[in-house]
Amino acid sequence: MSARILNGTLLAQQIRGELAAAVMDFHQRHGRPPGLGIVLAGEDPASEIYVRGKLKAAAEAGMRADLERLPASASLREVLAVVDRLNRSPLHDGILVQSPLPAGMGATAEQQVFDAIDPAKDVDGFHPVNVGRLVQNRATLAPCTPSGVIELLDRSGIEIAGARAVVIGRSEIVGKPMALLLLNRHATVTVCHSRTKELADVAATADILVAAVGRPAMVRLGFVKPGATVIDVGVNRLTDAADVARIFPPGAPQHATFARRGSVLVGDVHPEVADVAGALTPVPGGVGPLTIAMLMRNTLHAAQARMARAQGPAA
Ligand code: GUN
Repeated sequence: MSARILNGTLLAQQIRGELAAAVMDFHQRHGRPPGLGIVLAGEDPASEIYVRGKLKAAAEAGMRADLERLPASASLREVLAVVDRLNRSPLHDGILVQSPLPAGMGATAEQQVFDAIDPAKDVDGFHPVNVGRLVQNRATLAPCTPSGVIELLDRSGIEIAGARAVVIGRSEIVGKPMALLLLNRHATVTVCHSRTKELADVAATADILVAAVGRPAMVRLGFVKPGATVIDVGVNRLTDAADVARIFPPGAPQHATFARRGSVLVGDVHPEVADVAGALTPVPGGVGPLTIAMLMRNTLHAAQARMARAQGPAA
């Protein structure tokens, strides 16, 4: 093991501390805290955990956070009605609809819901207006996970400008906005995906390698240039003992976790990569906590911008 481990939990704590003062100031000025409405449809176990984390972080930051729950059997129309109510709510500055929506809502449901969110309250940065602003390098609300990666690189002293960055994954939530944020910070960016030829060779050109594909331990030694910074966005739950035995070396703490809980988390990056990478984010405790910190920051910024608009231009 040679890689420097980039501790996202610690950095997120630091950011939340910085935000708490600004949240208190907002509350004093406007007589209410910044407010976030979270919509959760269905019972996806991973979404339940993520949403619980978001609600807890908001409460700790002194924000208001309301969970709007809908059953998996809810219709798309019902989700849109909740979004419409939150769009008009004076108490909510930010709206987040947790992805994925239940499959029964149809293939385009997520896009329709994200399109319906008021762009000024779109703390996920998924609305086409906010995506367009990101493309033009004038984003006000950028997606939380890739923003968290940038924050983590900055606060860890890793130079982005001029670096060769490779992003594996082209999702709307992580891969695409990650590539744009890195490009806006003057990295030379390559985006890889399921059809990329010689994927390992392309990945091994990276000074900064971001893995966001959702495939357990896919990024192996051969993908990583010695000394590269490797950012693992994947959160995959292993429930098969054979997978755990195959991926983690004997004596790794994950074996005890698996014995205790019957499952264990692994990222998209194989643990062996720690032997060659210069710096590496752990899973859990890497990018995840930064994602939540960026959601808090976006909610505060949305709230500040909304109140500034309500007050009109300064005299
Ligand atoms: N599901 C997984 N990541 C995210 C995210 O960043 N935002 C939302 N809304 N859903 C998610």
